[in-house]
Amino acid sequence: MRTTANRLKVVAALALAALVTSGCERPPIDEVQGGYRGTAMVQMYNPRVVAAQAANNTVPVAQAAAAEGGPLAGTVYQNVQVLGGLSIGEFSRTMLAITEWVAPKEQGCAYCHEGANFADDAKYTKVVARKMLQMTQKINADWKPHVQATGVTCYTCHRGKPVPEYVWFKDVDNTAAGGLGNRAGQNQSTAAINGSSLPSDPFSPFLLGSEPIRFTGDSALPAGNRKSIKQAEWTFALMTHMSQGLGVNCTYCHNSRAFNDWSQSPPQRTTAYYGIRMARALNNEFMVPLTDVFPAHRKGPGGDVAKLNCATCHQGAYKPLYGASMLKDYVTALAAPVPPPVVAPPVEAPPAEGEAAPAATPAETSSTGDAPAGVKQPG
Ligand code: HEC
Ligand code: HEC
Ligand code: HEC
Ligand code: HEC
Repeated sequence: MRTTANRLKVVAALALAALVTSGCERPPIDEVQGGYRGTAMVQMYNPRVVAAQAANNTVPVAQAAAAEGGPLAGTVYQNVQVLGGLSIGEFSRTMLAITEWVAPKEQGCAYCHEGANFADDAKYTKVVARKMLQMTQKINADWKPHVQATGVTCYTCHRGKPVPEYVWFKDVDNTAAGGLGNRAGQNQSTAAINGSSLPSDPFSPFLLGSEPIRFTGDSALPAGNRKSIKQAEWTFALMTHMSQGLGVNCTYCHNSRAFNDWSQSPPQRTTAYYGIRMARALNNEFMVPLTDVFPAHRKGPGGDVAKLNCATCHQGAYKPLYGASMLKDYVTALAAPVPPPVVAPPVEAPPAEGEAAPAATPAETSSTGDAPAGVKQPG
């Protein structure tokens, strides 16, 4: 009796394990043929996953356009270092937009601004946001081989949250379970690598450092290819993240008969190539230099700043927000660095008799931190 019961338990446990661990998804699965017929360049989409994702990829309505003209923010406000060349109307709608994109729920304007003095840089979030403005401009101006004219806004990564949903930190603890030696970055099974046992932080070597990703030799072993299997595993971990981050199969970018051959790869692989370089550059040029600005509770276990990878923007979609451009409504502020306002030389001699007095400089906006025209003060 006892053994039968035990056996039943074992069978039940095995059946459960099979259910839990099987990678199978319930049919139907949609298939989209990519390359020529017969080349197996097919993409599989789970319609239920796609439907669930649609909500995350709808775009908020743009702020109403600013009135033409008006004085420039840099001549009116005290401490604008990046957006000084915008008219105050365009500046105000940019402030409204970034509030909606980054901190709509908590405190609104006060998420970045201390009290009534909007010129004050006391809050770290404001200092970070200034750098983020520059990062966004840089992406849109200099990384067109990746983002095209579609571009990005703060919303691409933030989606209404101060901390984007997908960021990464360095993997610091490399001890295997039970303290049994070095686990070579493996067997952590994190979500970023789709729960696999591959190295769980392929980002440090490839999206922060510039370790070589390609390892395939041109000839059979032992002559041409001197790269190790271990090296291949790091590449596979990155590729797993890329597939997952974009919600696509490997064949979105590769012909599986020759993963290494660029001439047989779809054009998306080239876009991805630039994406890798872009993510690496953004982490090094913008995120790492912010390390001392962020408070400890925002940093990883190794004290490093949160960094971005493909999922930070893509969030499981082949193009972020399914390719919708929010940038088109914020071109003046975010498409490229805004040229600083040209400061007029001080008027030297008093106007000669009969000449009109110089127009007064705009004095409407006080420097006490009142909200710019048309903007509601934080409640
Ligand atoms: C996500 C952070 C963030 C939020 C939220 C935010 N701001 Fe700002 N604000 C900034 C940054 C950064 C600057 C400086 C921009 C620069 O240096 O070009 C700034 C500058 C300003 C200035 C210029 C102050 C001066 O004299 O130098 C005003 C006015 C302002 N913001 C108003 C607002 C209002 C009103 C809101 C709410 C609708 C708001 N901001 C929400 C980040 C933010
Ligand atoms: C490419 C992705 C990306 C874009 C675009 C982006 N951010 Fe960020 N942002 C990040 C990452 C990554 C962090 C670090 C997360 C953290 O705070 O720990 C961050 C952090 C911040 C923080 C600090 C939040 C906190 O509570 O610690 C602010 C504020 C911010 N971003 C504002 C902006 C603004 C404003 C824009 C648009 C001008 C913008 N970001 C565009 C990725 C992005
Ligand atoms: C979004 C596009 C994209 C997806 C999806 C993708 N790859 Fe890649 N893959 C690339 C790019 C780009 C490179 C070259 C990277 C470089 O040199 O910087 C590459 C390189 C490789 C290499 C190395 C080739 C060589 O020359 O040694 C292998 C192997 C590989 N990928 C396998 C995969 C596998 C397996 C998957 C699915 C789990 C996958 N890739 C998914 C874009 C992609
Ligand atoms: C700063 C945000 C951002 C990051 C980070 C990012 N991408 Fe993109 N990516 C975009 C945007 C925006 C587009 C849409 C461009 C367009 O409209 O053609 C795009 C398009 C693509 C495409 C083209 C898809 C197609 O069907 O044509 C591929 C492939 C891609 N990204 C791969 C990657 C990979 C791989 C990474 C990480 C190494 C990455 N991206 C990181 C913003 C980003």
